Amino acid sequence: MKFHVLTLFPEMVLNGLNTSIIGRAVENNLIEINAVNIRDFSMDKHGKVDDYTYGGGAGMLMQAQPVYDAWKSVAGGKKDTLADAEDLLTKDKSVRTIYVTPQGYPFTQQYAKELAKEDELVFLCGHYEGIDARVLDEVVTDYISIGDYVLTGGELPAMVMIDAVSRLVPGVLHNEDSAETESFHRNLLEYPQYSRPEVWHDKAVPKVLLSGNHREIEKWRLEQSIAVTKERRPDLYEVYQAQEALIKKLSKNKRHNIHMMESLSRGRGEILVNDGGNILIYDRGAGVCMITAEDEHGFRDMQGTIPADCERIIASRSFMLAKLVDIFGSEVVTECKNVCYTERNPISKRHGIQGDLADAATEAVLWINRELEMGHLPYKHVVAENEILLHMLEQLGCYVSKESVWLLERA
Ligand code: ADE
Repeated sequence: MKFHVLTLFPEMVLNGLNTSIIGRAVENNLIEINAVNIRDFSMDKHGKVDDYTYGGGAGMLMQAQPVYDAWKSVAGGKKDTLADAEDLLTKDKSVRTIYVTPQGYPFTQQYAKELAKEDELVFLCGHYEGIDARVLDEVVTDYISIGDYVLTGGELPAMVMIDAVSRLVPGVLHNEDSAETESFHRNLLEYPQYSRPEVWHDKAVPKVLLSGNHREIEKWRLEQSIAVTKERRPDLYEVYQAQEALIKKLSKNKRHNIHMMESLSRGRGEILVNDGGNILIYDRGAGVCMITAEDEHGFRDMQGTIPADCERIIASRSFMLAKLVDIFGSEVVTECKNVCYTERNPISKRHGIQGDLADAATEAVLWINRELEMGHLPYKHVVAENEILLHMLEQLGCYVSKESVWLLERA
């Protein structure tokens, strides 16, 4: 993954990101940081890049031209010169360009996950009173703030975001699991942790952590996470509670709703609608919507809530299909059955399925056990006509939902 940082202080960015995990990731070519000095693009003989603001007011503003030319040097080719009138109209903002500003959308773990899917990102760091709005309008795709306070420049926020995004790039963290289990997973803050010695300043490590009983340890950690979140982040706790309540509601028809339940409990799904039997959940990271409705009327009320950037939809009621095909401009409707393994115990490697299906069964056992290890309920959508596969999964102890779900992809 490549990060371009447009800045007046390239050395600050490079020095700040060359140590520890991010420094190692750069060394191992997992990420690349290209700091570009905006001053190098000044047309002024003294290298000036700022000027007074029209309309008055304290302080100086960074001018459009050097910022635009610096941006073009990294994102150029993808956008032509200002003289190209047609280009001006189309505003090709093909490279994701982030302006870090206190006037931006709040940066969250979810936002970091979304940015981590890009191959290349451009960060634009302002100084003084900010940057001429016209160039922002030309190049910026995302306005992002790291918090409700004002810093002297955009370099520290850009570094914060680069750190948060980089650690999600595969290979950057050696222990792949740790990106999943920590704070903000499931909208809960992380539980307290302890290391040696067992007693320090007369304070003993909680007994349960020494018990070796993983189930009890998990239970204690969840309780602690809930308590810490409730105390320090009541806003997050409210989201957590809403998700837990919806998971409980969906569990009344677990096999049919397993995809929605798992999306919520893995901390991926965002509840867009939860009104009786009308439910719309969006996994923004994967671009997938999951929808169910009581009746056609309920569905009609929800249609407008389907996000424009949603690429796939999983619909749980057949009466929605004609309209969804319309909305998505797609004929691809795959009828599937939800298959889930609801035991908490792993399947033995000697699963006993012989013959042609033995290899497929071994693969399924590995997948089920891996999901269980990560604390997930293993589930899959299996194409409804695939009777053999469905039958084999049943033999492994999986449950097949009686009802279907339908998958649609945007054309
Ligand atoms: N630049 C100055 N303050 C900032 C903030 N809080 N977030 C992002 N960019 C900034």
